[in-house]
Amino acid sequence: MTIETGSSKQRVLSGIQPSGNLTIGNYLGALSQWVKEQHRYESYFCVVDMHAITVPQDPATLREKTREVAALYIASGIDPQVATIFVQSHVPAHAELAWILNCFTPIGWLNRMTQFKDKAAKQQADTVSAGLFNYPVLMAADILLYQAHQVPVGDDQRQHLELTRDVAQRFNYLYGETFVVPEPMIRETGARVMGLDDPTKKMSKSEVDSQYHAVYLLDDLDWASKKIMRAKTDSYTDIRFTNDPERAGVNNLLEIYATITGQPHDAIEAHFAGKGYGVLKREVAEVVVEMLRPLQARYREITSDPAYLDGVLAQGAERASTVAERTLKLVKERVGFLPPYRRP
Ligand code: TYM
Repeated sequence: MTIETGSSKQRVLSGIQPSGNLTIGNYLGALSQWVKEQHRYESYFCVVDMHAITVPQDPATLREKTREVAALYIASGIDPQVATIFVQSHVPAHAELAWILNCFTPIGWLNRMTQFKDKAAKQQADTVSAGLFNYPVLMAADILLYQAHQVPVGDDQRQHLELTRDVAQRFNYLYGETFVVPEPMIRETGARVMGLDDPTKKMSKSEVDSQYHAVYLLDDLDWASKKIMRAKTDSYTDIRFTNDPERAGVNNLLEIYATITGQPHDAIEAHFAGKGYGVLKREVAEVVVEMLRPLQARYREITSDPAYLDGVLAQGAERASTVAERTLKLVKERVGFLPPYRRP
Protein backbone atom coordinates (compact mmCIF):
# COMPACT_ATOMS: atom_id res chain seq x y z
CA MET A 1 0.00 0.00 0.00
CA THR A 2 1.26 3.52 -0.68
CA ILE A 3 0.67 6.13 1.98
CA GLU A 4 -1.45 9.08 0.84
CA THR A 5 0.46 12.33 1.20
CA GLY A 6 -1.93 14.41 -0.90
CA SER A 7 0.87 15.57 -3.22
CA SER A 8 2.24 14.34 -6.52
CA LYS A 9 5.75 15.10 -5.31
CA GLN A 10 7.74 12.96 -2.93
CA ARG A 11 8.56 14.57 0.40
CA VAL A 12 11.85 15.62 1.92
CA LEU A 13 12.52 16.51 5.55
CA SER A 14 15.75 17.55 7.21
CA GLY A 15 16.97 19.68 10.09
CA ILE A 16 19.96 21.26 11.79
CA GLN A 17 20.50 21.81 15.51
CA PRO A 18 20.84 25.44 16.59
CA SER A 19 23.87 24.60 18.71
CA GLY A 20 27.16 26.33 17.93
CA ASN A 21 27.99 28.02 14.63
CA LEU A 22 27.07 26.41 11.33
CA THR A 23 30.14 25.23 9.39
CA ILE A 24 30.92 24.66 5.73
CA GLY A 25 30.45 20.97 6.65
CA ASN A 26 26.77 21.63 7.41
CA TYR A 27 26.49 23.58 4.18
CA LEU A 28 28.24 21.09 1.90
CA GLY A 29 26.80 17.96 3.53
CA ALA A 30 23.23 19.15 4.08
CA LEU A 31 22.12 22.68 3.18
CA SER A 32 23.47 22.78 -0.37
CA GLN A 33 21.61 19.54 -1.14
CA TRP A 34 18.39 20.95 0.27
CA VAL A 35 18.70 23.99 -1.95
CA LYS A 36 19.36 21.87 -5.01
CA GLU A 37 16.42 19.51 -4.40
CA GLN A 38 13.80 21.92 -3.02
CA HIS A 39 11.87 22.17 -6.30
CA ARG A 40 11.87 18.45 -7.01
CA TYR A 41 10.41 17.48 -3.62
CA GLU A 42 7.79 18.87 -1.28
CA SER A 43 10.31 20.00 1.31
CA TYR A 44 10.23 20.59 5.07
CA PHE A 45 13.28 22.05 6.81
CA CYS A 46 13.19 22.49 10.54
CA VAL A 47 15.47 24.09 13.07
CA VAL A 48 15.62 21.34 15.66
CA ASP A 49 15.72 23.25 18.94
CA MET A 50 14.27 20.31 20.87
CA HIS A 51 17.29 18.26 19.82
CA ALA A 52 19.63 21.04 20.91
CA ILE A 53 18.46 20.88 24.56
CA THR A 54 19.61 17.27 24.87
CA VAL A 55 22.88 18.89 26.01
CA PRO A 56 23.00 22.02 28.20
CA GLN A 57 22.12 25.29 26.39
CA ASP A 58 21.95 28.88 27.53
CA PRO A 59 18.31 30.01 26.89
CA ALA A 60 19.17 33.41 25.38
CA THR A 61 21.81 31.88 23.12
CA LEU A 62 19.43 29.12 22.03
CA ARG A 63 16.81 31.69 21.01
CA GLU A 64 19.41 33.68 19.09
CA LYS A 65 20.87 30.62 17.36
CA THR A 66 17.43 29.30 16.42
CA ARG A 67 16.74 32.49 14.48
CA GLU A 68 20.27 32.52 13.07
CA VAL A 69 19.93 28.99 11.68
CA ALA A 70 16.53 29.77 10.15
CA ALA A 71 18.00 32.89 8.51
CA LEU A 72 20.94 30.81 7.24
CA TYR A 73 18.52 28.38 5.58
CA ILE A 74 17.13 31.29 3.58
CA ALA A 75 20.54 32.87 2.99
CA SER A 76 21.76 29.55 1.60
CA GLY A 77 19.01 29.65 -1.00
CA ILE A 78 16.00 27.88 0.50
CA ASP A 79 12.97 29.75 -0.81
CA PRO A 80 10.30 29.92 1.92
CA GLN A 81 7.64 30.15 -0.76
CA VAL A 82 8.79 26.81 -2.16
CA ALA A 83 9.89 24.92 0.95
CA THR A 84 8.49 24.99 4.49
CA ILE A 85 10.93 26.40 7.05
CA PHE A 86 9.91 25.99 10.68
CA VAL A 87 11.06 25.62 14.25
CA GLN A 88 10.61 22.14 15.72
CA SER A 89 9.22 23.28 19.10
CA HIS A 90 6.50 25.26 17.29
CA VAL A 91 4.94 21.96 16.23
CA PRO A 92 4.05 19.97 19.38
CA ALA A 93 3.30 16.87 17.30
CA HIS A 94 7.07 16.16 17.27
CA ALA A 95 7.14 15.64 21.03
CA GLU A 96 3.92 13.65 21.02
CA LEU A 97 5.00 11.27 18.29
CA ALA A 98 8.44 10.92 19.87
CA TRP A 99 6.81 9.65 23.06
CA ILE A 100 4.72 7.11 21.20
CA LEU A 101 7.70 5.91 19.16
CA ASN A 102 9.80 5.64 22.33
CA CYS A 103 7.36 2.95 23.38
CA PHE A 104 8.15 0.98 20.21
CA THR A 105 11.93 1.36 20.25
CA PRO A 106 13.93 -1.33 22.05
CA ILE A 107 16.64 0.09 24.32
CA GLY A 108 19.12 -2.23 22.59
CA TRP A 109 18.69 -0.28 19.33
CA LEU A 110 19.51 2.99 21.10
CA ASN A 111 22.48 1.43 22.90
CA ARG A 112 24.12 0.88 19.53
CA MET A 113 24.06 4.58 18.51
CA THR A 114 27.64 5.77 18.10
CA GLN A 115 26.72 9.48 18.30
CA PHE A 116 25.18 8.94 21.73
CA LYS A 117 28.33 7.17 22.90
CA ASP A 118 30.56 9.96 21.52
CA LYS A 119 28.48 12.77 22.97
CA ALA A 120 27.96 11.03 26.31
CA ALA A 121 31.72 10.41 26.58
CA LYS A 122 32.30 14.17 26.40
CA GLN A 123 30.14 14.77 29.49
CA GLN A 124 30.33 13.66 33.09
CA ALA A 125 28.37 10.42 33.40
CA ASP A 126 25.86 11.84 35.91
CA THR A 127 24.96 14.77 33.61
CA VAL A 128 24.11 12.70 30.51
CA SER A 129 20.36 13.18 30.01
CA ALA A 130 17.71 10.62 29.08
CA GLY A 131 16.91 13.07 26.26
CA LEU A 132 20.35 12.52 24.74
CA PHE A 133 19.76 8.78 24.83
CA ASN A 134 16.30 9.13 23.24
CA TYR A 135 17.48 11.72 20.71
CA PRO A 136 17.32 9.31 17.72
CA VAL A 137 13.66 8.57 18.48
CA LEU A 138 12.81 12.29 18.33
CA MET A 139 14.66 12.41 15.03
CA ALA A 140 12.59 9.45 13.78
CA ALA A 141 9.45 11.35 14.81
CA ASP A 142 10.62 14.44 12.88
CA ILE A 143 10.97 12.42 9.72
CA LEU A 144 7.99 10.07 10.02
CA LEU A 145 5.50 12.83 10.89
CA TYR A 146 6.02 14.29 7.41
CA GLN A 147 5.96 10.91 5.64
CA ALA A 148 9.30 11.93 4.14
CA HIS A 149 10.59 9.71 1.34
CA GLN A 150 14.08 11.21 1.33
CA VAL A 151 16.23 12.70 4.09
CA PRO A 152 19.18 14.77 2.85
CA VAL A 153 21.91 14.60 5.50
CA GLY A 154 25.66 14.23 5.95
CA ASP A 155 27.30 10.87 6.42
CA ASP A 156 27.26 11.09 10.25
CA GLN A 157 23.47 10.73 10.28
CA ARG A 158 23.45 7.38 8.45
CA GLN A 159 22.96 5.32 11.62
CA HIS A 160 20.10 7.53 12.84
CA LEU A 161 18.40 7.07 9.50
CA GLU A 162 18.76 3.30 9.78
CA LEU A 163 17.09 3.46 13.20
CA THR A 164 14.29 5.61 11.78
CA ARG A 165 13.68 2.99 9.09
CA ASP A 166 13.68 0.20 11.69
CA VAL A 167 11.18 2.05 13.89
CA ALA A 168 8.90 2.79 10.91
CA GLN A 169 9.00 -0.82 9.75
CA ARG A 170 8.30 -2.14 13.21
CA PHE A 171 5.32 0.16 13.67
CA ASN A 172 3.99 -0.66 10.19
CA TYR A 173 4.34 -4.37 10.92
CA LEU A 174 2.43 -4.07 14.21
CA TYR A 175 -0.35 -1.69 13.11
CA GLY A 176 -0.47 -1.79 9.31
CA GLU A 177 1.03 0.71 6.85
CA THR A 178 1.27 4.00 8.73
CA PHE A 179 4.65 5.51 7.84
CA VAL A 180 6.61 5.97 4.65
CA VAL A 181 9.95 4.22 5.21
CA PRO A 182 12.47 6.97 4.38
CA GLU A 183 15.71 6.74 2.42
CA PRO A 184 18.87 8.65 3.33
CA MET A 185 20.00 11.10 0.65
CA ILE A 186 23.77 11.34 1.17
CA ARG A 187 25.97 12.92 -1.48
CA GLU A 188 29.11 11.24 -2.78
CA THR A 189 31.48 14.11 -2.09
CA GLY A 190 31.05 16.58 0.74
CA ALA A 191 29.07 14.24 3.02
CA ARG A 192 31.90 14.18 5.55
CA VAL A 193 33.99 17.34 5.69
CA MET A 194 36.84 16.87 8.15
CA GLY A 195 38.39 19.24 10.70
CA LEU A 196 41.03 21.57 9.25
CA ASP A 197 43.17 21.30 12.38
CA ASP A 198 42.73 17.52 12.67
CA PRO A 199 41.53 15.82 9.47
CA THR A 200 40.90 12.56 11.29
CA LYS A 201 37.95 14.20 13.08
CA LYS A 202 34.68 15.33 11.45
CA MET A 203 34.32 19.11 11.16
CA SER A 204 31.86 20.02 13.91
CA LYS A 205 29.97 23.15 14.92
CA SER A 206 30.40 22.38 18.60
CA GLU A 207 34.20 21.98 18.62
CA VAL A 208 35.69 24.43 21.09
CA ASP A 209 39.29 23.30 21.52
CA SER A 210 40.85 24.93 18.46
CA GLN A 211 40.06 28.14 16.62
CA TYR A 212 41.49 26.56 13.44
CA HIS A 213 39.07 23.61 13.42
CA ALA A 214 36.28 24.81 11.12
CA VAL A 215 35.23 27.51 8.70
CA TYR A 216 31.91 28.90 9.91
CA LEU A 217 29.34 30.22 7.47
CA LEU A 218 29.37 33.62 9.16
CA ASP A 219 33.15 33.89 9.57
CA ASP A 220 34.88 37.06 8.49
CA LEU A 221 36.11 36.17 5.00
CA ASP A 222 39.80 36.96 5.62
CA TRP A 223 39.71 34.88 8.75
CA ALA A 224 38.05 31.99 6.86
CA SER A 225 40.80 32.15 4.29
CA LYS A 226 43.53 32.20 6.97
CA LYS A 227 42.10 29.08 8.58
CA ILE A 228 42.28 27.21 5.28
CA MET A 229 45.86 28.39 4.71
CA ARG A 230 46.74 26.89 8.10
CA ALA A 231 44.98 23.56 7.46
CA LYS A 232 46.98 20.52 8.49
CA THR A 233 48.52 18.66 5.53
CA ASP A 234 51.46 16.23 5.37
CA SER A 235 55.05 15.95 4.18
CA TYR A 236 54.29 14.42 0.79
CA THR A 237 54.17 16.62 -2.30
CA ASP A 238 51.75 15.18 -4.87
CA ILE A 239 48.16 16.41 -4.81
CA ARG A 240 45.63 13.64 -5.32
CA PHE A 241 42.47 12.14 -3.80
CA THR A 242 43.43 9.32 -1.46
CA ASN A 243 42.10 7.13 1.37
CA ASP A 244 45.48 7.12 3.07
CA PRO A 245 44.77 8.29 6.66
CA GLU A 246 48.16 10.01 6.78
CA ARG A 247 47.07 12.20 3.88
CA ALA A 248 43.56 12.95 5.13
CA GLY A 249 44.28 16.71 5.26
CA VAL A 250 45.09 17.05 1.57
CA ASN A 251 42.22 14.76 0.66
CA ASN A 252 39.86 16.90 2.73
CA LEU A 253 40.93 20.09 0.95
CA LEU A 254 40.44 18.37 -2.41
CA GLU A 255 37.00 17.12 -1.37
CA ILE A 256 35.97 20.62 -0.33
CA TYR A 257 37.20 21.96 -3.67
CA ALA A 258 35.40 19.19 -5.59
CA THR A 259 32.11 19.71 -3.77
CA ILE A 260 32.09 23.46 -4.33
CA THR A 261 33.28 23.48 -7.95
CA GLY A 262 31.45 20.30 -8.99
CA GLN A 263 34.49 19.29 -11.07
CA PRO A 264 35.39 15.60 -11.49
CA HIS A 265 38.29 14.23 -9.47
CA ASP A 266 40.58 13.56 -12.45
CA ALA A 267 40.18 17.12 -13.76
CA ILE A 268 41.04 18.49 -10.30
CA GLU A 269 44.12 16.28 -9.98
CA ALA A 270 45.25 17.40 -13.46
CA HIS A 271 44.69 21.03 -12.47
CA PHE A 272 46.87 20.73 -9.37
CA ALA A 273 49.54 18.46 -10.91
CA GLY A 274 53.02 19.81 -10.21
CA LYS A 275 51.71 22.55 -7.88
CA GLY A 276 52.46 22.83 -4.16
CA TYR A 277 50.23 22.75 -1.10
CA GLY A 278 50.39 26.55 -0.90
CA VAL A 279 48.60 26.83 -4.26
CA LEU A 280 46.08 24.15 -3.28
CA LYS A 281 45.22 25.98 -0.06
CA ARG A 282 44.97 29.35 -1.78
CA GLU A 283 42.59 28.02 -4.43
CA VAL A 284 40.45 26.17 -1.88
CA ALA A 285 40.30 29.35 0.20
CA GLU A 286 39.20 31.29 -2.89
CA VAL A 287 36.31 28.98 -3.77
CA VAL A 288 35.17 28.85 -0.14
CA VAL A 289 35.25 32.65 0.17
CA GLU A 290 33.34 33.09 -3.10
CA MET A 291 30.74 30.63 -1.85
CA LEU A 292 30.35 32.48 1.46
CA ARG A 293 30.33 36.04 0.12
CA PRO A 294 26.80 36.05 -1.43
CA LEU A 295 25.45 33.89 1.40
CA GLN A 296 26.63 36.41 4.01
CA ALA A 297 25.27 39.37 2.03
CA ARG A 298 21.88 37.68 1.87
CA TYR A 299 22.09 36.82 5.58
CA ARG A 300 22.65 40.48 6.46
CA GLU A 301 19.66 41.46 4.33
CA ILE A 302 17.38 38.89 6.00
CA THR A 303 18.41 39.75 9.53
CA SER A 304 17.98 43.47 8.94
CA ASP A 305 14.22 42.82 8.91
CA PRO A 306 13.29 40.63 11.94
CA ALA A 307 9.59 40.79 11.05
CA TYR A 308 10.28 39.01 7.78
CA LEU A 309 11.81 36.02 9.58
CA ASP A 310 8.95 35.99 12.12
CA GLY A 311 6.54 35.78 9.20
CA VAL A 312 8.42 32.93 7.52
CA LEU A 313 8.50 30.94 10.77
CA ALA A 314 4.84 31.57 11.54
CA GLN A 315 3.78 30.46 8.08
CA GLY A 316 6.17 27.50 8.30
CA ALA A 317 4.71 26.37 11.64
CA GLU A 318 1.18 26.53 10.15
CA ARG A 319 2.05 24.47 7.11
CA ALA A 320 4.14 21.96 9.05
CA SER A 321 1.46 21.51 11.73
CA THR A 322 -1.19 20.68 9.16
CA VAL A 323 0.89 17.83 7.78
CA ALA A 324 2.24 16.64 11.12
CA GLU A 325 -1.17 16.57 12.80
CA ARG A 326 -2.61 14.41 10.03
CA THR A 327 0.01 11.72 10.70
CA LEU A 328 -0.26 12.04 14.47
CA LYS A 329 -4.04 11.58 14.35
CA LEU A 330 -3.62 8.36 12.38
CA VAL A 331 -0.95 7.07 14.79
CA LYS A 332 -3.14 7.81 17.83
CA GLU A 333 -6.02 5.89 16.27
CA ARG A 334 -3.73 2.98 15.44
CA VAL A 335 -2.36 2.63 18.98
CA GLY A 336 -5.82 2.87 20.54
CA PHE A 337 -6.10 6.37 21.99
CA LEU A 338 -9.63 7.79 22.31
CA PRO A 339 -10.60 10.48 19.80
CA PRO A 340 -9.76 14.03 20.98
CA TYR A 341 -11.85 15.25 23.88
CA ARG A 342 -14.24 18.05 22.91
CA ARG A 343 -15.91 20.38 25.39
CA PRO A 344 -19.65 19.64 25.50
P1 TYM B 1 23.58 18.47 12.93
O1 TYM B 1 22.90 19.66 13.45
O2 TYM B 1 24.74 17.91 13.68
O3 TYM B 1 24.09 18.72 11.46
C1 TYM B 1 23.21 19.21 10.46
C2 TYM B 1 23.49 18.54 9.13
O4 TYM B 1 24.84 18.78 8.70
C3 TYM B 1 25.48 17.54 8.42
N1 TYM B 1 26.90 17.65 8.80
C4 TYM B 1 27.92 17.45 7.99
N2 TYM B 1 27.99 17.13 6.70
C5 TYM B 1 29.23 17.02 6.14
N3 TYM B 1 30.38 17.21 6.83
C6 TYM B 1 30.36 17.55 8.13
N4 TYM B 1 31.49 17.75 8.80
C7 TYM B 1 29.09 17.69 8.77
N5 TYM B 1 28.71 18.02 10.03
C8 TYM B 1 27.36 17.99 10.04
C9 TYM B 1 24.75 16.53 9.27
O5 TYM B 1 24.91 15.23 8.77
C10 TYM B 1 23.33 17.02 9.17
O6 TYM B 1 22.73 16.59 7.97
N6 TYM B 1 20.50 14.76 14.20
C11 TYM B 1 20.73 15.84 13.26
C12 TYM B 1 19.61 16.86 13.19
C13 TYM B 1 18.25 16.31 12.94
C14 TYM B 1 17.76 15.80 11.73
C15 TYM B 1 16.40 15.46 11.98
C16 TYM B 1 18.31 15.62 10.46
C17 TYM B 1 17.26 16.23 13.86
N7 TYM B 1 16.11 15.73 13.27
C18 TYM B 1 15.60 14.90 10.98
C19 TYM B 1 17.50 15.08 9.48
C20 TYM B 1 16.16 14.73 9.73
C21 TYM B 1 22.00 16.58 13.66
O7 TYM B 1 22.40 16.57 14.78
O8 TYM B 1 22.53 17.31 12.66
